[in-house]
Amino acid sequence: MKALLLENIHPEAERLLTERGIELETVKGALDEDELIDAVRDVQLLGIRSKTTVTERVISSSPQLVGIGAFCIGTNQIDLSAATGHGVAVFNAPFSNTRSVVELVIAEIISMARHLTDKNAKMHAGVWDKSATGAHEVRGRTLGIVGYGNIGSQLSVIAEALGMQVYFYDVADKLALGNARRCETLDELLEVSETVSLHVDGRPGNAGLFGAEQFAKMRPRSLFLNLCRGIVVDHEALRAQLESGHIAGAAVDVFPSEPKKTGDPFTSSLQGIPNVILTPHVGGSTEEAQEDIGRFVAGKLRDYLGAGATTMSVNLPTVQLDGTPTDRTRILHIHRNVPGVLATANGVLADFGVNIDSQSLSTRGDLGYVITDVAGGVPAELLDKLGSLPETIRLRLAD
Ligand SMILES: NC(=O)c1ccc[n+]([C@@H]2O[C@H](COP(=O)([O-])OP(=O)(O)OC[C@H]3O[C@@H](n4cnc5c(N)ncnc54)[C@H](O)[C@@H]3O)[C@@H](O)[C@H]2O)c1
Repeated sequence: MKALLLENIHPEAERLLTERGIELETVKGALDEDELIDAVRDVQLLGIRSKTTVTERVISSSPQLVGIGAFCIGTNQIDLSAATGHGVAVFNAPFSNTRSVVELVIAEIISMARHLTDKNAKMHAGVWDKSATGAHEVRGRTLGIVGYGNIGSQLSVIAEALGMQVYFYDVADKLALGNARRCETLDELLEVSETVSLHVDGRPGNAGLFGAEQFAKMRPRSLFLNLCRGIVVDHEALRAQLESGHIAGAAVDVFPSEPKKTGDPFTSSLQGIPNVILTPHVGGSTEEAQEDIGRFVAGKLRDYLGAGATTMSVNLPTVQLDGTPTDRTRILHIHRNVPGVLATANGVLADFGVNIDSQSLSTRGDLGYVITDVAGGVPAELLDKLGSLPETIRLRLAD
């Protein structure tokens, strides 16, 4: 078994995969389409980060590829429908940097409440400004969290530990943690919050979610943070509200258009305004998050290769059978989700006198995935027959 890891993936991933006996090839940077096609020809697993694009051409030209690990959060760089169509499982790390984002939000709320960036700039310029005016504790203050998902809900817990009163608004029904209070509408949240922090996802309807109207509804002299998606906020409207003093401070980590790489020039209408913290999309960028991403995604790839488990796969149905097969054979069968396919496949096993020990099936859209454990080995002809069923997309044994 071979894996190709691109883009400087954390060594924790290498450790987990080699421990499992997988031969590794690593490349520091990203590869273009043709280079990638050459490189994945004889690998079962491919690991990438955000700069490698995995196209349908790449996927269809490497028939032995069974899994792709996106060692990051997003999977836009992978043609997911091509991966699904070829029965290639894709995994990512949706939670690994949650804590890192939350810690930065907390640091920024306190920094803005104490005007730390302005005090720091003055000190470096040789100005001693020992004034308490406009500096506040966060204890007892209200925090409004928009989007109570992985990040929003963890922020809620840590903000409460600091003594903040948390309100949240989410379009989905979410369990309120601790003493957090749910708001029925965004307007209701804006009315009660002295600090508003956005943590919604990137669904198309969220573009322009926060503009002049929403800023105007915020309490006077409140603080605003956006560490979710650049397109969610109208930066011109934010600038106007900061200049008028209606908003007392803002922290922004994500921008409607961001430079491609370190060193590229950056401009924003939010530059040069006091008590505004601008960061280059680093909310989730910590060494701890990178290590956790390496561990999480490599673990998913290892479990998929060895046991067929698709738990938390981005594109395949979720199926997991207990244990790793040692005295049994585990057949992993990805197939088109059509009536009677399971009966046909089990009929093939019966024809060869093979008894099923345990079996689990799940479907997702047009795709079905069944894991079947049978006692002892299975003849090659049986696998040929299953593999050549018209419904079969991919058939392999757990390794
Ligand atoms: N700055 C960074 O480096 C960084 C790092 C990680 C994640 N993020 C971004 O942070 C955001 C949140 O991440 P997450 O893991 O918590 O996502 P998540 O999917 O767990 O949570 C998003 C929540 O927002 C809610 N939501 C969506 N639209 C809404 C709306 N219009 N109003 C109210 N609620 C709405 C959803 O129901 C969901 O509960 C994402 O956009 C993600 O891309 C940024």
